[in-house]
Amino acid sequence: MTPAAASGDEGLFSGAVLFIYLLCPLNILSLLFVTAPYGKHSRAGWGPIISPAIAWFLMESPTLWLPLLLLPAGRHSSNPIALFILCLFFVHYIHRTLIYPLRLRRLRRPAGSIASGFPLSVAAIAFVFNFLNAYVQTRSVSHYSDYGGRQWRAGVSTAARVAIGLSIFIWGMAVNIRSDLALVKLKAEGGRGYKIPRGGWFEAVSCPNYMGEVAEWLGWAVVAWSPAALGFFFFTASNLVPRARSHHKWYVDKFGEDYPTSRKAILPFVF
Ligand SMILES: NC(=O)c1ccc[n+]([C@@H]2O[C@H](COP(=O)([O-])OP(=O)(O)OC[C@H]3O[C@@H](n4cnc5c(N)ncnc54)[C@H](OP(=O)(O)O)[C@@H]3O)[C@@H](O)[C@H]2O)c1
Repeated sequence: MTPAAASGDEGLFSGAVLFIYLLCPLNILSLLFVTAPYGKHSRAGWGPIISPAIAWFLMESPTLWLPLLLLPAGRHSSNPIALFILCLFFVHYIHRTLIYPLRLRRLRRPAGSIASGFPLSVAAIAFVFNFLNAYVQTRSVSHYSDYGGRQWRAGVSTAARVAIGLSIFIWGMAVNIRSDLALVKLKAEGGRGYKIPRGGWFEAVSCPNYMGEVAEWLGWAVVAWSPAALGFFFFTASNLVPRARSHHKWYVDKFGEDYPTSRKAILPFVF
């Protein structure tokens, strides 16, 4: 890269990281008033509808192909720490982009079961965010992070931080995948409508899949220890905490007294 191109990328990168931070309060404010119109909250007026499986595959896809294109240009492209951190990102997104949509497609739905569509407009917005975020996270890990700095010095504190972050990431991913799987199975069996999910973390919160996802990116931010990764954790929370609140309210409104009163929205015993 020429010096001019390098400084251009540095400006673009810093601006994009800042933008992710600025999106968080905007996201919270807008989601308090307008619930994203897909799934339980689907409603008319958001343009053409596509299949949820195709929507998830298309809108999440930049998280797989963009890092592969950008990685070779990074000064840490063969650094084992950078590759380890990016591997965690890939593990999550291989599941979200390839496996999760296949589950949505493959599960047989009995006649009359719920089969909501996904607005193309929402998928397009998510595609743009995923493109931006894949750029930010890949450049942060593969180029701008300082693996010679204090936070990566060999020692007990670095090992403890990485072990704690990795444990949170793995726990979050396991809860996220198991809960999504339970919900998709419930949907396949669902007959004419949604059911009350039971068992596991569903006894504590209405949205354990969202709780797991937020934990995952918290764990990843602890491992990666960068402003970019922390920004992505804040963004995920700003997206999923308000949506969990909307889901929880939807369950209470729909099922009334049948819905377990001890269940919170996303954080057990608290919220
Ligand atoms: N990082 C981020 O910012 C972000 C943002 C959004 C989502 N995500 C992740 O993407 C995944 C999917 O998100 P989502 O918003 O689609 O989750 P969701 O609303 O919980 O729905 C997941 C799946 O389960 C079905 N379902 C949900 N509740 C059900 C019930 N009570 N009975 C029967 N079926 C039910 C849904 O069908 P319907 O679609 O027909 O409702 C959908 O197929 C989650 O793991 C989430 O963490 C991440």
